[in-house]
Amino acid sequence: MTQGRFITLEGGEGTGKSTQARALAEALEKNGFKALLTREPGGTPGAETIRELLLTGAEEKWNIRTEALLFAAARAEHCTKLIRPALARGDWVICDRFIDSSRAYQSVCGEISDAEIMDLHRIGSENLMPDRTFVLDLPEAVASKRADARDRGDSDRIGGRDSRYHRAVMANFRKFAADEPERIALVDASQSVEAITEALMINLDGMMA
Ligand code: TMP
Repeated sequence: MTQGRFITLEGGEGTGKSTQARALAEALEKNGFKALLTREPGGTPGAETIRELLLTGAEEKWNIRTEALLFAAARAEHCTKLIRPALARGDWVICDRFIDSSRAYQSVCGEISDAEIMDLHRIGSENLMPDRTFVLDLPEAVASKRADARDRGDSDRIGGRDSRYHRAVMANFRKFAADEPERIALVDASQSVEAITEALMINLDGMMA
């Protein structure tokens, strides 16, 4: 049995990750692969409970270190109970956000370094890394308009942070793509849903052999 493939979708709020994750899983199934669609934070009952803790309530509910630890804890559950077993069965796992979201979001305040976030990932999730990561990229103004239309003034604890924060998050994602081109592809998310899925499938072609 061959090991499955682990694909993650990343990006700021309102860039269309969830739609694209669903479309990619469907396209893979049509091509004869077994695809498991999941998300972070979440994906298992315990990790979904941690998601609720993280995303509801006031901004000051958690300090940034607690926040980073909770994301790492949710990920540890998700990796052990869902992602690793699926990969071991030979499935493709399509995950809406993963470690790069922690690197992009929890580092913005400058209190926690990228190396420290990766340390938490090593301890919690034994350093599981995606085979390919797609960062959906949109100009900040377009993305925030889309996110506002989706959330209608009811954004979650992190989505509701100010535009400076979200600009810094997007700049982090672009930097990761520039630094790790062999794993991370930057995708123009202003194209149609179908055009984006096609671009992702072309990018993954070499892994499907
Ligand atoms: P979602 O809106 O894509 O479901 O993601 C939930 C929020 O959690 C979103 O604002 C991004 C944030 N997040 C982090 O800050 N760090 C992480 O590691 C993950 C997975 C998500």
